[in-house]
Amino acid sequence: CVDKPHIVTCTAPVNIAVIKYWGKRHEELILPINSSLSVTLHQDQLKTTTTVATSRSFQEDRIWLNGKEEDINHPRLQSCLREIRRLSRKRRNDGDPILNATGLSHKVHICSVNNFPTAAGLASSAAGFACLVYTLAQVFGIEGELSGIARQGSGSACRSIYGGFVQWLMGQKEDGKDSLAQQVEPESHWPELRILVLVASAERKPVGSTSGMQTSVQTSCLLKHRAESVVPGRMAEMIQAVRRKDFAAFAELTMKDSNQFHATCLDTYPPIFYLNSVSQQVINVVHRYNRHYGETRLAYTFDAGPNAVIFTLQQHVPELVEVVQHFFPPETNGGQFIKGLPVNPVAIS
Ligand code: PMV
Repeated sequence: CVDKPHIVTCTAPVNIAVIKYWGKRHEELILPINSSLSVTLHQDQLKTTTTVATSRSFQEDRIWLNGKEEDINHPRLQSCLREIRRLSRKRRNDGDPILNATGLSHKVHICSVNNFPTAAGLASSAAGFACLVYTLAQVFGIEGELSGIARQGSGSACRSIYGGFVQWLMGQKEDGKDSLAQQVEPESHWPELRILVLVASAERKPVGSTSGMQTSVQTSCLLKHRAESVVPGRMAEMIQAVRRKDFAAFAELTMKDSNQFHATCLDTYPPIFYLNSVSQQVINVVHRYNRHYGETRLAYTFDAGPNAVIFTLQQHVPELVEVVQHFFPPETNGGQFIKGLPVNPVAIS
């Protein structure tokens, strides 16, 4: 009989945290010290595309990232693969009919590409692991909750499983079963909201989020204060601001939370610097712009890298593009920008 490979391709967009996740209470299970909230971008913008092929003739599991073969034995990759195969085995043992699913003993070949700079603080691992887990789930016939598996690849990945406005509840259980992502509002909720990404540097970040978080948890008392006394209140306020579509409240919380996250990086010992001079200029321009109009029309946020993500409403986009081009002309470092808007989560093509 002919051995036809079973092939599935999916895409997953990046998510941008407006209440940041920083710090783990369990390294292996990736359990955070605080809840977080993000906006998932439009499917056509910053995204990962992953193809998984399975065949009886494959000798071993293999993975290629952006065209280069990587180590399949990466522990987090193994956690995701193991968990998907375990769930598939369980479903079969429970007698569930699994249509079109691949044989459990079959090896997988995974090919994943990003359409944006990897590891430059543009949440590439979030889209990457969400996409990997979702695609593997299609291949092995798993349905239902996937955010808990994506979380074990990269914490922020659990939020890219859903579209729109998504919270990752930190959970209380030791086994992490309640540390899951949940949609707060769908992508259709706030159609006027726009996101603009200003690429200040496409280089790899100097300190990866895993080691950065470890040092911060060990050394920053500001981080402890933030997780225990600031984030719980901010999560509630942010959810209200999103539900009311109150841009000024949303923007202020977003900027304050980004600033506090970077303050905890500075409070880490030795300190971590993710922002560069272009990022600082962006912060100043945004505050000057808002002051000029006497209302909050723009908000910035920065992850573990210097690239700015700016939120605004549709009616301000043309002027914002002019402002960006004026202050950061293409020949300067900050000249590239990509527009997006939050829409769908994971689509199968
Ligand atoms: O999921 P990780 O390990 O890539 O960490 C993400 C951390 C931040 O991007 C800085 C914040 C967040 O909540 O996405």
